[in-house]
Amino acid sequence: MTKSGAGGREGGRSLKERVKTARRRSLSSTLWLERQLNDPFVAQAKRDGYRSRAAYKLLEIDDRHKLLTPGKRIVDLGAAPGGWSQIAATRVKSADGKSKGKVVAIDLLEMEPIAGVEFTVMDFNDESAPELIKAMLGGGADGVMSDMAANATGHKQTDHLKIVALAELAADFAKEVLAPGGFFVAKVLQGGTEHQLLAALKRDFAQVRHLKPAASRPDSAELYVLATGFRGG
Ligand SMILES: C[S@@+](CC[C@H](N)C(=O)[O-])C[C@H]1O[C@@H](n2cnc3c(N)ncnc32)[C@H](O)[C@@H]1O
Repeated sequence: MTKSGAGGREGGRSLKERVKTARRRSLSSTLWLERQLNDPFVAQAKRDGYRSRAAYKLLEIDDRHKLLTPGKRIVDLGAAPGGWSQIAATRVKSADGKSKGKVVAIDLLEMEPIAGVEFTVMDFNDESAPELIKAMLGGGADGVMSDMAANATGHKQTDHLKIVALAELAADFAKEVLAPGGFFVAKVLQGGTEHQLLAALKRDFAQVRHLKPAASRPDSAELYVLATGFRGG
């Protein structure tokens, strides 16, 4: 899990404990912790019962573009700790037993179970990942979402290339599993190469755009690419 989504995991610790361990913490960790403690989306996620502040990014994207409607079949790549999966399961109604809605999620890290979400620990870079996810789906998908982010190295260009490489892999997978009309949404970082991904997506989807949800920190290069209206294989 990258640091941005781990807000809920700080929940149980007392302030005293934080102060006590502060001497051993690096400057970047201290700055991150301060930012978490002062972040309104972290506080809101705790109040609303979401596992991550990232949940608000998907909520905003979905409120605007109406992607997660009841009965949809969704893949969530890089799902832990589970904010996006919580929203997807609620909106496609995958837990109610009557709807055709389904959410299949994977991550490098373990994730606490979520009703209506079928989860497996998996490295999406593994050659076998696409086939394993297809087996979990047992059919096509209406949406593929990727919030995958490799741990930041601090080297801007390296971090950028790693995230875009994951987004490109996710886009290739989306083209294999999406039903016509399906959507693809993925995290990218501003910095040049994401335009290649954009151009490739434009060939296969009716509409492609970049989004910067309010919960995406303004000082980060993070962006989301949303492709809708898959033209079919
Ligand atoms: C920003 S977090 C996702 C937050 C999530 N959308 C939520 O709402 O809780 C990014 C996740 O991507 C996962 N990840 C990074 N590289 C991955 C890979 N190669 N395969 C699977 N998951 C990966 C990380 O383990 C991390 O949990």
